[in-house]
Amino acid sequence: MSDSYISPDDFTPVALRKLRDSCGGCRAAVRAIHDDPPGDNRHWTGTWQRTFKNLDEEPDEDLDESPDEDLVENISLKEADLLAYIQKHRDVPLTIVALADHFDCSPHLIKEHLSALREQYYDVQWIDENEIAVSMPKDAAYNIPRHIKTGWRQREFRLGVVSDTHSGSLWADSEVLEDIYDRFLAEGVSEVLHPGDITHGPGMRGYRGHLYEARPDCQGPDGVIEYTIETYPRRRGITTRFISGNHDDWEWQASGRDICKEIADKREDLDYLGRSQADLLIGPDQQTKLRLWHPSGGMAYARSYKAQKNVEAMLGGTKPHILLIGHYHVAGWFAIRNVHTLLCGCVEWQTPYMARKSLQPEVGAYILDLLVDDDGWVRELTPRWLYYYYPKSNI
Ligand SMILES: [Fe+2]
Ligand SMILES: [Fe+2]
Repeated sequence: MSDSYISPDDFTPVALRKLRDSCGGCRAAVRAIHDDPPGDNRHWTGTWQRTFKNLDEEPDEDLDESPDEDLVENISLKEADLLAYIQKHRDVPLTIVALADHFDCSPHLIKEHLSALREQYYDVQWIDENEIAVSMPKDAAYNIPRHIKTGWRQREFRLGVVSDTHSGSLWADSEVLEDIYDRFLAEGVSEVLHPGDITHGPGMRGYRGHLYEARPDCQGPDGVIEYTIETYPRRRGITTRFISGNHDDWEWQASGRDICKEIADKREDLDYLGRSQADLLIGPDQQTKLRLWHPSGGMAYARSYKAQKNVEAMLGGTKPHILLIGHYHVAGWFAIRNVHTLLCGCVEWQTPYMARKSLQPEVGAYILDLLVDDDGWVRELTPRWLYYYYPKSNI
């Protein structure tokens, strides 16, 4: 036998399995590790084949033997390391295979970690390990507008509308919000729509000075999530369906974690419709499009101006029949190009930020009565604004 012969005994069972699998078979494995294959290698391959055969019949406990470091994948990759890498590469196309190459580990391990991150409400998306990018988008504009079919097949509706409740803000008014829900209940409302900023966002995120507006226990994402889950009003028989607003999205933009999803998963009466915008299809044939929208940017001097510009820019055929707008913290109702538009007010008194920007909030909510026809057109619409005033005791 040649001195160059390398015996299977020189390898651990784990290393042998890896070697055979990576080479694609026994003969290829022999060729891969022998620099100088002999002319007649029947004896060599026979020994190796027997070894592999025995290996396959051996119990799995063998896998517990100490691995050969050169041949065994990196299993020390931590979720936190993978998360940090994806956070650093937001909006950059990555594949599971590319991530496995980068971290020198198996695609399986990457998938396991990604699944765990998704369970922690990080907005990691992937469809296929080779073809589709793993991504964690940070701009809501990249989201495809959601058209949500509802079971609301009737012609007449009574809906509650409340917006910008800013849970966790020192200026949010939980007493007013509870009272609004009492009035909803008394008026037979079972569906409440909320166009964003259900939370004030973690104090540690957002504009300069934002931390001073947030409760001490709402400085981080965990705090504001927990506070909202515990304190947002609950009424038997009422479901609140909401989109995110810019405050809710700050954590998602910073770390990829979707706090709204987490809140809704832990409250059966809260239904999260997605970031920034969602269209609900309602009416006998689901022909009426009701849009919830949370824009960004400041208010114009004339409160209707921005909504008007937005509706004027909509392509024919894409317009909603009803548009509920959050964010501006003021109330208003007008129809532009047959789009019945409501500015939905807020349940947060004037913050220092608003005072700096000369913005005066309108605190309240709507009870909205609707009558639609089979073609989707709104035949009757009655928004009833529930008024609230700044408590004299606070002045
Ligand atoms: Fe807001
Ligand atoms: Fe907002």
